[in-house]
Amino acid sequence: MTARLVPEQSQPRITHRPHALRLGALARCDALLVMIPADLAPAKWKSLPRGAWLRSEYLRRKCRAGATLSARLDGKRHGLVIVGLRADTASAFETLHLAGRMLKETRALQPGRIALATVGLDGSAARNALEALLAGSLAAAFELPSFKSRQGNGAAPREITIFDPGRNDFAATLASSEGNNLARWLTALPGNELTPASYREMATTLARREGWRVEFFDRAKLARRGAGAFLAVTQGSEDDGSGILHVQYRGTGNGSSPRLGLVGKGICFDTGGTNLKAHRSMLDMHIDMGGSAVALATLLALTRLRVPYRVDCWLALAENRIGPKAYKPQDVVKASNGTSIQVIHTDAEGRMVLADALAFAAREKPALVLDFATLTGACVNALTERYSGVFTNRPEWREVLERAGSASGERVWCFPMDADFDADLESANADIVQCLPDNKGDHIYAARFLSRFVPPAIPWAHVDLAAATRTGGLAHINTEITGFGVRYAVNLLMEQDLLGEARRAS
Ligand code: BES
Ligand code: ZN
Ligand code: ZN
Repeated sequence: MTARLVPEQSQPRITHRPHALRLGALARCDALLVMIPADLAPAKWKSLPRGAWLRSEYLRRKCRAGATLSARLDGKRHGLVIVGLRADTASAFETLHLAGRMLKETRALQPGRIALATVGLDGSAARNALEALLAGSLAAAFELPSFKSRQGNGAAPREITIFDPGRNDFAATLASSEGNNLARWLTALPGNELTPASYREMATTLARREGWRVEFFDRAKLARRGAGAFLAVTQGSEDDGSGILHVQYRGTGNGSSPRLGLVGKGICFDTGGTNLKAHRSMLDMHIDMGGSAVALATLLALTRLRVPYRVDCWLALAENRIGPKAYKPQDVVKASNGTSIQVIHTDAEGRMVLADALAFAAREKPALVLDFATLTGACVNALTERYSGVFTNRPEWREVLERAGSASGERVWCFPMDADFDADLESANADIVQCLPDNKGDHIYAARFLSRFVPPAIPWAHVDLAAATRTGGLAHINTEITGFGVRYAVNLLMEQDLLGEARRAS
């Protein structure tokens, strides 16, 4: 049953044409998506199919940046041309959002063959436009799991032609998109399909395919290592296969290359536990493993990009359930790094499982640790679902952490986490309280709590995935589950070279 949990859809075939849009080459195309500047010179409209008509519509509707125009293509296939007007000043997010809207317009047509192009854009503007259209197309071409007895006809794009006179390299886009699709796929799976046990089997199947090494810390092993914070959460479950899964990519470099640690919250369902959630808050809590999906999907993207360094991925796989053995407020437990924790609220389970997963990750002495978690409602309250929150024990990294957000279009906001917040986490009978009795600033306290399990010598950034799901999608992603985090992490590691930065600073 579990091999099925690995998405087995073939990527669409991509043809990269090193020249500008040629109308003669569109005969076999169902949809052509073209981004143009919002003030395209009158003469340039002629490069577009149905250009004269499109321009008259543009003038009649007084179109501005962000608008889309469409027309039927001539020819037997009755295809569509969709034009998107991009502002000169468009951010990565705005360009991706425009690409997503253009793709939405092709949906009813179910195009099998699409072509991507720009007209009137040069250099980085053209590159960003094509990159956004490609990322949007790859997301649209991927079908999320469906359990309908009558399957759809799978008419997602199978062929993508890119007209790209700039001969850009889209390797990072392809890798991030494949990762984003995997993350969305896993997150969309219902809690009875993706259990800690089936998740582990799925990841093991994937590891065999990708040549990763796998090690699993089951409850018995975790008990021997004193991982009492993680185990407290699993107490409420029957033996459900929960544990910490360590997946390792060895890297193409030599043994002296640095190590990256990726950590993810993998709560396959969060009922809240003894502090049971109410109906609306519990309804979608199968997505509470989204952080682990982003960590695993980032590992996949980095594998595709053949990064030289070693990557250790730590997935904290469990459920947060109610039951006679479930952990309770005021329980005191001890994590594997020796820190004792006074439990306040069983629904703050994410920080409990991450405590031990981070402590395990830190033991490998990585040059950098990144963790991803759908950790707090407070972060959503602070940012909405448009941004995710970032926290770091290297305050000088705030700028680069936010730059990766604006450059990737997966936007993040850095919150403070000064040491004096710890005064509020003091416990009367343990080393630390798990959280505060009220919710004020809980995303910050959660980050401060986590910092107790990462030695200060190890540079660390924590992503609280407020943008993991959003009604109506986000940017180029048109599904409620956004897969937010993979594009961000790939940008942070490849374009911003944060691992190199961490190494130079050490
Ligand atoms: N998984 C939730 C956080 C969450 C809520 C993520 C909504 C995405 C959407 C987490 O385990 C949780 O329940 N946190 C509590 C913490 C509180 C009890 C201190 C919360 O945010 O209410
Ligand atoms: Zn919870
Ligand atoms: Zn949770």
